[in-house]
Amino acid sequence: MFDDVAPKYDVVNDVLSMGQTRRWRRVVVEAMDVKAGQRVLDLAAGTGTSSEPYADAGIDVIACDFSLGMLKVGKRRRPDIDFIAGDATRLPFADNTFDASTISFGLRNVNEPKKALAEMLRVTKAGGRLVIAEFSQPVVPLWRTMYTEYLMRALPAIAVKVSSNPDAYVYLAESIRAWPDQDHLAAWLQEAGWESVTYRNLSGGIVAVHRAQKPAGPAAGPATDPASGAKALANHTGPVAKLRRNITRPER
Ligand SMILES: C[S@@+](CC[C@H](N)C(=O)[O-])C[C@H]1O[C@@H](n2cnc3c(N)ncnc32)[C@H](O)[C@@H]1O
Repeated sequence: MFDDVAPKYDVVNDVLSMGQTRRWRRVVVEAMDVKAGQRVLDLAAGTGTSSEPYADAGIDVIACDFSLGMLKVGKRRRPDIDFIAGDATRLPFADNTFDASTISFGLRNVNEPKKALAEMLRVTKAGGRLVIAEFSQPVVPLWRTMYTEYLMRALPAIAVKVSSNPDAYVYLAESIRAWPDQDHLAAWLQEAGWESVTYRNLSGGIVAVHRAQKPAGPAAGPATDPASGAKALANHTGPVAKLRRNITRPER
């Protein structure tokens, strides 16, 4: 699916978010708070739009994704960025490689998001940071209703006009509705071994930016074979992430 939308991915994003993605991305970079010379993993980096601010600031950013279509568009656009094919659930990196890790609008698409959280913990150095930007649940009921209408009715209709693969945007709307809310994702992070978990709502909760830290003690999380993720990538043609519809949400 991502291979299909890759050529117009960034333009369509700007249209459908009414320009909000730029502001959301700025908040993520601020939350990462990384410096030149540090090494950053941008997971599910797609065409590398989320990686660009780090590269521009002299940070050693690795843009990792399993869609070769997205990676090709990214490499053509930004040959200076290191694009690496890798599956979020079996990252092709050694333990404790990165000073900080981030994933923007990608965790929801990963088939086993909890595994991805554990893998990011494994490859991040002790004391290193994680920042996640993901669509979430608007907190004010009226705003939530208006947003749901936009997602389920307007967005697919606009996508028919601007995207080569409008079905991908029907999937987008459904996957956002099925995704856990802010507190639930925070609980997943803690379960995976991350600590100091906080989040900030953007655009009234349409997007949430979660921030967490890897414990400063001895390396946490299960060690896995760093080479294992690189192999199956070229063959990824499987169905889109199964929707997680049965998640219970805490009372507000
Ligand atoms: C909506 S795009 C986000 C791209 C980029 N981070 C951004 O902010 O524009 C989601 C990306 O997640 C990637 N993705 C989904 N599941 C993945 C997995 N298991 N491993 C690596 N990448 C994955 C897709 O290929 C796609 O490029």
